[in-house]
Amino acid sequence: MARVNKTAVLVLLITASSIFLLFQLYYYRQHANKHGLQAPSGKGYPTGKEAQWHLVKKFLGLAHKFSLPVFLVDTASLSLLSQDAVLLKDSQMKEPHCTFLCTHRDFVTFGLLGNLWKYDAGLLEASEERGLELLEIRGKDPRLVSMDDLSGRDIPLHLLFRFNGRLVHVVVLYERSGNYLWHGPLRLRGSMDRTFAPFRDLEFGRYAGAYNRPDLILTTLDGLDVRIPKNFSHFKNERSNSRFLECRFREAAAFYQLYPDDTSPEAMDFRMKAKSLLHLAARVLSGIEVPFWLSSGTCLGWFRQCNIIPYSKDVDLGIWIKDYRHDITQAFQKAGLSLKHKFGKIEDSLELSFQGLDVKLDIFFFYEDGDIVWNGGTQAKSGKKFKYVFPRFSLCWTELLELRVRVPCETLDYVTANYGPEWNIPVKAWDWKSSPPNVQENGVWPIKEWDDVIQVN
Ligand SMILES: *[C@@H]1O[C@H](CO)[C@@H](O)[C@H](O)[C@H]1NC(C)=O
Repeated sequence: MARVNKTAVLVLLITASSIFLLFQLYYYRQHANKHGLQAPSGKGYPTGKEAQWHLVKKFLGLAHKFSLPVFLVDTASLSLLSQDAVLLKDSQMKEPHCTFLCTHRDFVTFGLLGNLWKYDAGLLEASEERGLELLEIRGKDPRLVSMDDLSGRDIPLHLLFRFNGRLVHVVVLYERSGNYLWHGPLRLRGSMDRTFAPFRDLEFGRYAGAYNRPDLILTTLDGLDVRIPKNFSHFKNERSNSRFLECRFREAAAFYQLYPDDTSPEAMDFRMKAKSLLHLAARVLSGIEVPFWLSSGTCLGWFRQCNIIPYSKDVDLGIWIKDYRHDITQAFQKAGLSLKHKFGKIEDSLELSFQGLDVKLDIFFFYEDGDIVWNGGTQAKSGKKFKYVFPRFSLCWTELLELRVRVPCETLDYVTANYGPEWNIPVKAWDWKSSPPNVQENGVWPIKEWDDVIQVN
């Protein structure tokens, strides 16, 4: 008897608690729907963070449905992440809220690889169904532009999804021949709706940009599955130095009209060797994480004619002295380039020269001084010092001979300082001690220092 009672009580208890549990579950879902992230009440539209979260959810749903592997590139959002938060995957989150995807801005930015984007009517329809307005902004495909063909073809560069005054900005990234990702600037054309978005504020719209292709990971942010760059702090760093300049093909074509290119076997041979030296130098310097830019004649060649100047006889690079590393010489030697000369010292006028195959690599170290920067020169036989003065500049990415390299963003000022206002006219007789308009005599090295500051191999 007692046994039967026990079983009955147990069954009763289990049934009761199951019902209670189910009820709780049901109530919780109701509650979450009602108070979690729905529109406040009645017919009112969600505002602020709620609107933003809804937009991102709709957008990600759409991206998922149409197999568009978008990833978060918004630096305001990525700044809120810490490595820990990503690893925890929001596991302690009780109720959905919008922390990472809703910043102080009215938009959030995602990236998408261009080869994965296809504009189809289905997507437009599905967007409309979800109440999203879609604006596609196109521009020229720079990969098809060359000196021989300036026309190019239109490709999608930016996509804007709008919902309740909030935006998801999708930056379309294209793989370019220097093995990097590129996005175009956002330029509105004649008939476009200028009020569609706060175009001026968009993070990736003002300039073109260049990035390494990031590794991605899938994580959960604000209750939504989102891909992000695995090393998002690295991506953020890249972002701050990502501005990209296209070579000025139109001007270069005009230059070649006036001064036909030298296509002799010697010139072609020099260009080929200079190109491989430039590629090698880029590999060596990026291997030890030393940023550099095209300087002197190599910079002029890029700016004026989108190529190496065949009679220049060397490849010139600039490096900030703060980025100097003691193992630079060793790294070049390991790559098969011997040190040809070393002039100056770290504190003053440092310059390194390496011997490539028939082509010399000159590396000039640049010193910052108030509102100017300068690099030094040394005449080996006299110990005379020279100083080349430039206005301050920042660095931009560009592409030269299938290589992604940096150049001064203010290239015209840089080239004009170094070559004068007539930089657009080829000059074959150039004396580095007297021709540059920005050269200044800078005294003589004391004889007792010569062994150190004048090393010629
Ligand atoms: C992320 O990138 C930074 C450089 O920006 C680097 O120092 C760090 O080691 C990278 N972290 C990982 C986990 O790769």
